Amino acid sequence: MASADSPAVGTSDRRAAVTAVGHFLPEHRLTNADLEQMVDTNDEWIRTRTGIRERRILKDDSKASAFMATEAAREILATRDIDPATIDVVIVATVTPDMLFPATACLVQNEIGATNAWAFDFSAACSGFLFGLTTGAQLIESGRYERVLVIGADKMSAITDYTDRSTCILFGDAAAGVLLEPHDTHGLSDVVHYADGAHGDLLCQPGGGSLNPPSHRTVDAKMHYIQQEGRPVFKYAVTRMADACSEIMARNNLSADDVRYLVPHQANKRIIDATAKRMGLPDDQVMVNIDRYGNTTAATIPLCLHDWEAKLRTGDQLVLTSFGGGFTWGASLLTWAYDGADAA
Ligand code: ACO
Repeated sequence: MASADSPAVGTSDRRAAVTAVGHFLPEHRLTNADLEQMVDTNDEWIRTRTGIRERRILKDDSKASAFMATEAAREILATRDIDPATIDVVIVATVTPDMLFPATACLVQNEIGATNAWAFDFSAACSGFLFGLTTGAQLIESGRYERVLVIGADKMSAITDYTDRSTCILFGDAAAGVLLEPHDTHGLSDVVHYADGAHGDLLCQPGGGSLNPPSHRTVDAKMHYIQQEGRPVFKYAVTRMADACSEIMARNNLSADDVRYLVPHQANKRIIDATAKRMGLPDDQVMVNIDRYGNTTAATIPLCLHDWEAKLRTGDQLVLTSFGGGFTWGASLLTWAYDGADAA
């Protein structure tokens, strides 16, 4: 585990800043009313327990995470009119890769024509984007690379059991990501990241890997679907996410007034509210879109950045935070490096 003494990212002469954002959302909306027809649940329970009203589902069986990540990457490149051949690295955070290999990132690299990039996937469940962002930032800070794409993409509907009311109400499909480039002053300046593998069995997809390769037995036992013990995961998520945010604020001497926005992983509105309360942040300084998209795993944090991009200003300090399967969790301090459209 990291500690308060761990070296921060951003200690080199140059930082890695987010310089563009992109996203992809499937068109089909799965509403709480739709779910009422599928399992024994109701809109009121889902809204009050999770904050979710609807999620997006990629209905086309011929398309998956690589398609969504490619669309997000294309949007990133288009917003800055960037030649894909100038991308150095493509990182895709996902727990729903198109295949175990080749990496989804390689499929994206090919589709967008990033002919000079190397590419790899990142598996840290809902913390995938946060950990991927740190990794991408370190590649920039090393001085070796100039342009790194970090994308979170998950087709959660592919591993969701739509007869299990305790999980099928939670998840949605999406991709979103950022471009990282060098910056003298702004960008990712500190992170606290953690893992605790002792609780991996509380939130997992047990089938399909080398321990339980796909077979009639694993499929009959529904081992290819997400399995979660919601209550203990909830308890861990509430405390660990809030602890990580408190830690990053304390070691950077930040008060609530210094933080423009909290950018939390969107797993449950109650977890987000508890974290914001501990930080002393009012609702209008917390990015929340779980009501519209549900939990899109690795895509939630960049999807928030996309939805709030127009409001962001150069110098805004953002605290990004996540908690997910593994367990994995953490917080990062990101200083925004450009003015959003609303500033014009
Ligand atoms: N509709 C109606 N009732 C339901 C539903 C449903 N969809 N699902 C469960 N219930 C029932 C349960 O059966 C239970 O009934 P009982 O009391 O008769 O046994 C009751 O509601 C309460 O169930 P809990 O599981 O205790 O409900 P809880 O308030 O904990 O909410 C939830 C469940 C939303 C899953 C919550 O536990 C949660 O958000 N957990 C954390 C999720 C998370 O953060 N995951 C990490 C990130 S995800 C990733 O990494 C991929």
